[in-house]
Amino acid sequence: MTAGEAPAPRPLAGRRVALGVSGSISAYKAVELARRLEDAGAIVDVALTPSAARFIPALTFRSLVHGEVAEDLWDAAAPAEQHVAMGRRAEAMIVAPASATTLAKLAQGIGDNTVTLTALASAAPLIVAPAMDHVMYNQAAVQANLDALKARGVLVAGPAAGRLASGARGLGRLLEPAELAGAVRSAIGRAVGPMRGRHVIVTAGGTREPIDPVRFVGNRSSGKMGFALAEAARDRGAVVTLVTTQAPPAGLFGVVVRRVETAVEMQAEIAKSSPGADALIMAAAVADYRPAEAAEEKLKKSAEGEARMLELVENPDVVAGVEGSLLKVGFAAETSDLIANAQAKIAKKSLVFIAANDVSQEDAGFAVETNRIVLLDAAGGVERLPLLHKYDAAAAIYERLVGEPGWRAV
Ligand code: C5P
Repeated sequence: MTAGEAPAPRPLAGRRVALGVSGSISAYKAVELARRLEDAGAIVDVALTPSAARFIPALTFRSLVHGEVAEDLWDAAAPAEQHVAMGRRAEAMIVAPASATTLAKLAQGIGDNTVTLTALASAAPLIVAPAMDHVMYNQAAVQANLDALKARGVLVAGPAAGRLASGARGLGRLLEPAELAGAVRSAIGRAVGPMRGRHVIVTAGGTREPIDPVRFVGNRSSGKMGFALAEAARDRGAVVTLVTTQAPPAGLFGVVVRRVETAVEMQAEIAKSSPGADALIMAAAVADYRPAEAAEEKLKKSAEGEARMLELVENPDVVAGVEGSLLKVGFAAETSDLIANAQAKIAKKSLVFIAANDVSQEDAGFAVETNRIVLLDAAGGVERLPLLHKYDAAAAIYERLVGEPGWRAV
């Protein structure tokens, strides 16, 4: 079976999202956002302010989304009270880009176009993604409007710093579509997700144990399984701390990222985050050994043909050492005797269950998008999951986790 045979994940399947677009040169990114949300399974309704429609015609959105597109408030051909229906059925609304004027109207409760009226008609979580010139963004009036919105529970996504349409550099760039889609998923998770209010620590990537300033002992872990686990927990409403050796991809909006290199650093970072945490999902490939000493200077080549010895000392078992009431899920990457080898680690590391995978298979394990996991528990239970995208494998792990007797139900 090839990796392509696992269906693409649809984290927003069955969700209805309202996308409000206001006037900004960055409105073109809203087209990509609409496509991403629909690819993730959502049905997207779009509302455009009159200025937004000058940048991107409604036709572009009409050709792309499966929901409705509301533009002119006085359009006799549009369904009556279309904005009310769109606001009411939305499970989240995102205004992206949100101009200074639209932010002011949202802060004041003004409803004079299809975007502001849809927002007024909606009880769903609201996300605003500001985009404007940096001087405009820093205006006291704009900041006061953003503060007022935040105080009411509105999620403010961005802006990012960088090159602006005016040619200047500063704070005011619209976040990228992947980040904005992440913000929508995060907002829905926090409103209705099965893990809302819980704190989950996820580890990702292979540790790098230094030999000297330029070399390390490492492994082939790409971090992808851990990133998918962080994303899936975020989508279910959890507060997520991702302790990772690898740089996470864009789109992990809302996830607190802590970069580390070595097993010992990972252990220290987990110790900082674990008080009060509900679960630790240990997807990182932690090196069992590290060089006894890391040389301060780059090691020179030894004399011709001479063998070089590298002394290794044992690393702490990170997951085994974490104490407290949090539930621990381990991973076992094996190349032989998958079940027996993985099963032995459950009790040794006090795990609630372990996700085992045979990394010698081409479509599972390191650096690929898919995984073929077997979930093993202390009672001898064996649940074989089919070939799944890592995101869907993560979803299956959480489905199992929230059913564990020790999990604090929402
Ligand atoms: O390497 P091993 O197969 O024993 O890993 C099983 C689980 O233990 C994984 O979840 C891994 O992250 C964790 N582990 C750890 N500290 C180590 C080695 C592994 O926490 N030193």
